[in-house]
Amino acid sequence: MRPAPDAAMTESFRFPDDFVWGTATSAYQIEGSPTADGAGRSIWHRFSHTPGNTWLNETGDVACDHYRRYKDDIAIMAELGANAYRFSIAWARIFPQGTGAVNKKGIDFYSRLVDELLKRGIKPNVTLYHWDLPEALDDRGGWLNRDIADWFADYAVTMFDALGDRVEIWSTLNEPWVVSDGGYLSGVLAPGHSNLFEAPIAAHNLLRSHGVAVERFRSTKAARKGKIGITVNLEPKYPASDSPEDLAAVRRADAYMNRQYLDPVFLGRYPEEMQEIFGEAWPTWSDDDMRLIKQPIDFLGVNYYTRRVERYHPDHLPLRTKHVPQPQHIHTETNWEVYPEALTRVLLWITERYGKPPIYITENGAAFYDPPHTIDGRVEDPLRVEYFRVHLRAAHEAMRKGADLRGYYAWSLLDNYEWAHGYSKRFGIVHVDFSTQQRTIKSSGRYYASVIASKGAILAK
Ligand code: FCB
Repeated sequence: MRPAPDAAMTESFRFPDDFVWGTATSAYQIEGSPTADGAGRSIWHRFSHTPGNTWLNETGDVACDHYRRYKDDIAIMAELGANAYRFSIAWARIFPQGTGAVNKKGIDFYSRLVDELLKRGIKPNVTLYHWDLPEALDDRGGWLNRDIADWFADYAVTMFDALGDRVEIWSTLNEPWVVSDGGYLSGVLAPGHSNLFEAPIAAHNLLRSHGVAVERFRSTKAARKGKIGITVNLEPKYPASDSPEDLAAVRRADAYMNRQYLDPVFLGRYPEEMQEIFGEAWPTWSDDDMRLIKQPIDFLGVNYYTRRVERYHPDHLPLRTKHVPQPQHIHTETNWEVYPEALTRVLLWITERYGKPPIYITENGAAFYDPPHTIDGRVEDPLRVEYFRVHLRAAHEAMRKGADLRGYYAWSLLDNYEWAHGYSKRFGIVHVDFSTQQRTIKSSGRYYASVIASKGAILAK
């Protein structure tokens, strides 16, 4: 009798022919030359240059030197067979003072980048804000100033006009939750504030800025060709037990991280738990604001890395929850549990709760310790290969079960500047030797290339 074939071997993981396969980066994390060609400084420049904020006080001054090496990096994308690339624009390269006079040289850089991508058959996917606010705007209150919605919209329209003839996919914001939580509540990210009253205001102004930018997008030329959405990071929350306290704790954690942005964008209201979480720090928002935020969007970008198991804890404010580590599972170097099932779950949750929007997984990947040396010109990273394999399978499963998943972007193309972690955490599918800037495609990069080439079929192995 022949042995029964392994179930996984018989399962098909083929993705549609028009599936978008990309890699992702962000401006401050890879570009370097942050003040070149007339650019203004950003809050990340200031934050990283303030001693004590980042790992070994490392900054993005050089990063991957992508500002000067972008053609080589695009050649690598082409070698991988990727058909899309998600990157962000540094606002302060375009408006050195945040508003006012446009810096043409900044626009020229992104215009050259877009042209080079198109020459290689790679679709640009542009994020307007990936955390690097012009310092000059922070000096005027940054995300706490209501005027920022207009500042942001003017910047957005400038970019729609400059690139809208060639760029078809736009995201307003990357991970607004991180901007308000890391930047205004915990203070571990720029601008480094830690203030319960500020966090909801920053969050609300991020959402208003998104709304105004989408509204203006619809009334510019770009709208005829392009699509616009927002990118959020989602982290499904699981209760540590089914006690009423733990279930309530999970509801709060879920509202804060997963619904605080999506409910206003899709449903025009905040989750009711927000008041419970922030207490007297939670303001009342006007109906006009909520209407503005609820602009129809063309797609949702989802960044997924991990899930969290939570338990009630009275002292951990404001959420009154505590993360319960799951030592039985593999963790990445950023201490994130590897849990691909939650990716399937979150994609199906969006599909059900928000009426089946088109979804792109705009980031997914892992920091793992890589061997310090290349061996015969190779960097072997089997854990990262496995991370991509199981998450792409999980994404496929969500698609099979009804999620309208259109594309996937691996985070990240290159090892890069991981914010407060400096260069200590490597997420790249391409290794960067930061002393020489030499790039080497890792095993995970080769693996991703074979997934793309086989349209997913290889995931069955
Ligand atoms: C996401 C960010 C991205 C990178 C990855 C690891 O939260 O969008 O810039 O830091 O995490």
